Amino acid sequence: MPPIRIAPSLLSADFARLGEEVRSVEAGGADWLHLDVMDGHFVPNLTFGPCVCAAVKRCARVPLDVHLMITDPWRYADAFLDAGADWLTFHVEVAGHGDVGRLLDHVRGRGRKVGLSLQPDTPVAALSPFLDRLDLVLVMSVFAGFGGQQFRREVLPKVEELRRLGFAGELSMDGGIAPATIGSGAAAGANVFVAGTAVFGAPDRPGRIAELRGLAGAARR
Ligand code: DX5
Ligand code: ZN
Repeated sequence: MPPIRIAPSLLSADFARLGEEVRSVEAGGADWLHLDVMDGHFVPNLTFGPCVCAAVKRCARVPLDVHLMITDPWRYADAFLDAGADWLTFHVEVAGHGDVGRLLDHVRGRGRKVGLSLQPDTPVAALSPFLDRLDLVLVMSVFAGFGGQQFRREVLPKVEELRRLGFAGELSMDGGIAPATIGSGAAAGANVFVAGTAVFGAPDRPGRIAELRGLAGAARR
């Protein structure tokens, strides 16, 4: 099982001071930076594009974990790869809009890591055709679109199912990750934890990141 990784979501950062915010959570122990890209179509929210990803890349030291909550990842994948995305994850729910396998192969062909994400109500079976080509699976513990939502415990069996199926890659959970919830995700088999509110809303960010890492490590079976 890969190591515990804490990936603060920049969606909860102060965008007026993004460079300082990046340095703050990196100094606080962040393993990755999670960038939530939203198109106002796949999800009702609209965030940022490749230019912000490139700006973050210029000041970041840790890998960029880019989460594409967009209807047309085929159109924008290369722009985010050119902007420095180290991990590129898109949603399996857009499968009807293009060839998912081809995009997975394309991202890997460019030497980057690729993932697929599942909304809370999408079954693990939706990943079956692609599981052997994934470096990462992102199990949403909220419906994609906004930070600050409540953790949905009903997604935990999907994490267990993925590990039971033999998925040995990065298994990420995203949405409502906090000291009260991270342990259940780690016990189920997740190893990457995206946290926006819990990190950027904490007065002591290094302390919070260390607390999250400790709780996840202690809960591992
Ligand atoms: C939601 C995003 C999440 C979100 C997490 O669509 O994918 O990454 O920003 O925020 P918190 O940790 O506040 O739930
Ligand atoms: Zn996300």
